[in-house]
Amino acid sequence: MIGAQWGDEGKGKITDLLSRSADVVVRYQGGVNAGHTVVVQDQTFKLHLIPSGILYPNTKCIIGSGTVIDPKVLIQELDQLEALKISTRNLLISETAHVTMPYHRLIDQASEERRGDHKIGTTRRGIGPTYADKSERTGIRVVDLMEPEHMKKQLRWTINYKNGILEKLYDIQPLDPEEVIAEYLEYAERLRPHVVDSSLEIYEAFRHRRNILFEGAQGTLLDLDHGTYPYVTSSNPVAGGACVGAGVGPTMIDRVIGVAKAYTTRVGEGPFPTEQLGDVGQMLCDRGAEFGTTTGRQRRCGWFDAVIGRYAVRINGLDCLAITKLDVLDELDEIKVCVAYELDGQQCLDFPGNARQFAHCRPIYKTIPGWKQSTADCRTLEDLPMQALDYLKFLAELMEVPIAIVSLGASRDQTIIVEDPIHGPKRALLYTKGEQPSKGEQPAAPNSPEIHLAS
Ligand code: GDP
Ligand code: IMO
Ligand code: MG
Repeated sequence: MIGAQWGDEGKGKITDLLSRSADVVVRYQGGVNAGHTVVVQDQTFKLHLIPSGILYPNTKCIIGSGTVIDPKVLIQELDQLEALKISTRNLLISETAHVTMPYHRLIDQASEERRGDHKIGTTRRGIGPTYADKSERTGIRVVDLMEPEHMKKQLRWTINYKNGILEKLYDIQPLDPEEVIAEYLEYAERLRPHVVDSSLEIYEAFRHRRNILFEGAQGTLLDLDHGTYPYVTSSNPVAGGACVGAGVGPTMIDRVIGVAKAYTTRVGEGPFPTEQLGDVGQMLCDRGAEFGTTTGRQRRCGWFDAVIGRYAVRINGLDCLAITKLDVLDELDEIKVCVAYELDGQQCLDFPGNARQFAHCRPIYKTIPGWKQSTADCRTLEDLPMQALDYLKFLAELMEVPIAIVSLGASRDQTIIVEDPIHGPKRALLYTKGEQPSKGEQPAAPNSPEIHLAS
């Protein structure tokens, strides 16, 4: 399950729903930059690193190898869950995940300040510098923390090296290696009972035909390789990232489910063609309570963008979509959907890989009538106002992907399961433009969606 936009699509809620049918839930990338909100009755859980399946007592939750782990935040999260009587005994942590250290946070903060107008708008949680050290091969891994004598030697060397950078490049007070070592030795003992060979755990579950859910953090457009670079995160949230990050082969993944809001949000810097800076943006922000779960920053809001939607279908090979926050659009007289971009006088249906071109793309909208009534209590497609159903069908047709789940509120029951996304037939509902060819059949030439352009 992946985010199909710029993050915060409501993945936490959908993971929680799908976890009902999952034996194992795996986070495969990202770190405490993620903020996933799950609402169960009158309780709200905000998870950063722990998979959103943790609320089910028998579900195994794995923090995979491709994640970066800030042990301080992880331990706070464990404490918070336990205080709420949620068992964390089924939480497993990959021994090969990398560890976020105090110097990563300091460097993330200082480099954002140094960038001035060129800042990325990171969460300042040290994510980029932790992944940079992984690539540079100076990273600290969970397995290093598990061997105290080795860890002391490694940290003394690394902290001295990083102190040079902190002092000379950023004018920051050096860290005391012995203090950091003492702090991390304590974290290591707290986490030790959870540390495992996670790829092996997942493979064993696979061999026993267990249902395994890979839970993406962030979203497709924040992907380091396929997103709006450089305004991206430092990992691979796309579906392919699950293989590398969890340590599984592509043949082990049966289905890919994308989560998208019924409109679009983005937090941090970077181009956002359908952004609405006026009343519409403010209304979406107010009704959608669009403030970051991790940083509290106000999210930028705008209309649904089917160009990036189609891109997410392609990059992730989506089988179906969960559309969230449809209820946020309830009061609008009319709703716009970006069906294509205009770039240098040309119509453009595909997301351009060139960042400078993307920054110049202008949205071409189709306007759809609103339904002007509450959808919060709808539980079946038949309960939805006709215009809301038409809106969903239009999105499905534009992106050529079926919609399996519609979410109309934060709580578990405010959901329409159109089709069981795990066990139901593939590529079925709310997609009326003809079935996908089955394996071996000659695929039809790709149609461009039938779009009636209206800017
Ligand atoms: P994530 O990062 O993708 O897990 O999303 P976040 O949790 O950061 O942000 C989504 C927010 O929307 C959370 O506060 C959810 O409780 C809330 N939410 C999820 N689905 C719906 C929905 O269908 N309607 C409304 N109104 N809120 C929702
Ligand atoms: P979830 O999992 C939305 C954004 C940051 C910034 C960029 C890089 O809750 O959907 P980073 O700290 O990762 O180096 O910041 O990525 N970002 C997110 N935006 N949701 C998230 O996670 C995000 N995680 C990072 O705002 O623009
Ligand atoms: Mg979030």
